[in-house]
Amino acid sequence: MTDPILTAESIDVRFGDFQALSGFSLSVQSGTIHALIGPNGAGKTTLFNALTGVRKPSGGRIVFDGHTVTHVSAHRRVHYGMSRSFQVTALFAALTVAENLRLAVQARYAAEGWVFWRSPDRRRDIRDEVDALLAETFLTGRADTRTGDLSHGGQRSLEIGMALAGRPKLIFLDEPLAGMGIDDVHRTKGLISSLRSRMAVLLIEHNMSVVLDISDRITVMAAGRKIAEDVPAKIRTDPAVRSAYLGSTA
Ligand SMILES: Nc1ncnc2c1ncn2[C@@H]1O[C@H](COP(=O)(O)OP(=O)(O)OP(=O)(O)O)[C@@H](O)[C@H]1O
Ligand SMILES: [Mg+2]
Repeated sequence: MTDPILTAESIDVRFGDFQALSGFSLSVQSGTIHALIGPNGAGKTTLFNALTGVRKPSGGRIVFDGHTVTHVSAHRRVHYGMSRSFQVTALFAALTVAENLRLAVQARYAAEGWVFWRSPDRRRDIRDEVDALLAETFLTGRADTRTGDLSHGGQRSLEIGMALAGRPKLIFLDEPLAGMGIDDVHRTKGLISSLRSRMAVLLIEHNMSVVLDISDRITVMAAGRKIAEDVPAKIRTDPAVRSAYLGSTA
């Protein structure tokens, strides 16, 4: 077992009188795909928001890669190596796919302190990286397409590419397969699966066959609490999981 890249202890999140997360703890190991599943409204996205710094928890502690980040801004967490797949609305619809990726790669170079536009070497590095990201996200043939004209599946792939451009240590993917056709699901599943050699993946996904296939570990939540956590083979047959989740969607 490797070291955890992320540890969250006893996270509480409230919306007024409603307790969306209650004492939720989670540990994500480096180099693994860790899935978070549970019925609609279980609190999965709320947990992502708390972990990435979008919503401040009212209680608990979050440690990422050796840094206590509980009260650290979302921006700073990105700098430490957390990356969340961008929403399509965060992409520049009027720019091409390659231009969006270039902006994301340049943002990382800028954060690393490079004055990239002054160095031909850096410019070449950036171009090579954009090309690699296009290939990885199956968008090479769409490099010059206006982002706003991409198919739904293409936009979801680009969101993942934008997150990868930051070279994260942990990538957060919230329903990356939602609304995809079967070919896109198959390719994106392969892409996600390949990421574990470079980073940890925390994956929210309702497509159970994909989750059971590619995850190293699965945490099941319901009503803001953890109800099970284990390897896929155990989760598949867990009675509590079946009644709380699998049963409800069968
Ligand atoms: N900003 C908010 N204000 C009030 N309640 C909220 C807010 N965001 C989420 N909730 C509530 O918190 C609960 C958890 O929501 P969350 O979006 O985290 O669920 P989820 O597990 O991601 O569900 P889904 O699978 O449908 O995406 C739900 O009951 C939701 O209505
Ligand atoms: Mg959600």
